[in-house]
Amino acid sequence: MSQNERIAHSKITRKFRSEGRQLLFTQGKGGEVSDANGMTYIDFVMGYGPVIIGHSDELFNEILSGYLGNGVMMPGYTTFHSEYLERLLGERTGDRGAFFKTASEAVTATLRLAAMRNGRLGVLRSGYIGWHDAQIANSLKWHEPLHSPLREKLRYTDAMRGIGDTEPAVNWVDLRLESLAEILDRYRDRLGCFVFDAYLASFTTPEVLRQAVAMCRDAGLLTVFDETKTGGRISPLGYDHDHAIGSDLVVIGKALANGAPLSLVVGAADLLADAERARLSGTFSKEMIAVYAALATRDILEKPIGDAPDGWAEIGRIGTQVAATLTAAAEDAGVAALVGARPVLGGGMFELVYHDDALLGDKTRREALLAALTGAGILLLEGHPSFVSVAHREIDPDELRGRARRAFEQWSATVEAGRD
Ligand SMILES: Cc1ncc(COP(=O)(O)O)c(C=O)c1O
Repeated sequence: MSQNERIAHSKITRKFRSEGRQLLFTQGKGGEVSDANGMTYIDFVMGYGPVIIGHSDELFNEILSGYLGNGVMMPGYTTFHSEYLERLLGERTGDRGAFFKTASEAVTATLRLAAMRNGRLGVLRSGYIGWHDAQIANSLKWHEPLHSPLREKLRYTDAMRGIGDTEPAVNWVDLRLESLAEILDRYRDRLGCFVFDAYLASFTTPEVLRQAVAMCRDAGLLTVFDETKTGGRISPLGYDHDHAIGSDLVVIGKALANGAPLSLVVGAADLLADAERARLSGTFSKEMIAVYAALATRDILEKPIGDAPDGWAEIGRIGTQVAATLTAAAEDAGVAALVGARPVLGGGMFELVYHDDALLGDKTRREALLAALTGAGILLLEGHPSFVSVAHREIDPDELRGRARRAFEQWSATVEAGRD
């Protein structure tokens, strides 16, 4: 049995294959990763978003190692946790933060806090908000564009606990305020919490979101902006803070600690005070390696990088440039009418865009494109935003363009051959 076969995969960890075989990674350096066959890839997956400075960055490793002499777990929270929140929350003096490892945990915590406030167990969701039952049961392909035929198919309908008439898990699918009003009316007094994935802000406007939050609050729901993909990536705190959306709670995760597991629930002191009664913590909530990594990440991102005033601005520039390079490669290969790329929420993320509706609805051809990109030495996500890091500033745009062009040409030749 190969080492690979012992690992129980989920759909997302199975994505990357070469010649039909699952890739097993051995090392990351900067913006690249290597696999067990000795192949090196430009990595735009970045662990699905957490790696924000780069793999195995020397300065990051040095700062992190410096902290390790203090130990990794104390009986309770430490001055390091407290310093981190002080630096993160800054001028939001009334806010407190609760520490978690994964964002699924953090979002579950917000659902509990909501139920303690308003006695309602139902959840209104928009976007992928985690894999726990009430987060994922009966959900959609949330990262598909609003007009994609693949978007609305209900998924994960089996084996989910705690979903039903008295605790509905409801989707706000189309981001129209009229549909939101209908949902709030139909499920009146049963929905306790509204959770919005900030990535979906790229499908609408801040004004719509401000109104959505106000409508949910009027209907008695606790409102949560889920900045798992965006917080610490598009800016230090994310979209809700930058656009004054005004949600009651914000969940931040992924990019805080350059790959170490850290997620937070942030909000007003009186709301977070319920955390004690709600028993919102576990053994590893007070773990320190991730906090050291988060402090090291801020040390690096708070300073100017190149011409940019800070790391977040530089990451936005890099992602915007990567998207433009991929679009240029699609033009080089003669497939620009079918596919291109665009920056998402300022460029800390980017995504492939399908200009052709038949292709948009054709998962097989889309996955073939992902395979062609993998074959050309580029790992990115399809049907999901991809991620850049500071280390990608070292990647030669001509090299990226050449690889992407080869992938698009190979895909085009195969796809055309397959469709004749
Ligand atoms: C918006 C959002 N919320 C929650 C989660 C769940 O985070 P985790 O995988 O850390 O549990 C994700 C993960 O992709 C996410 O994108």
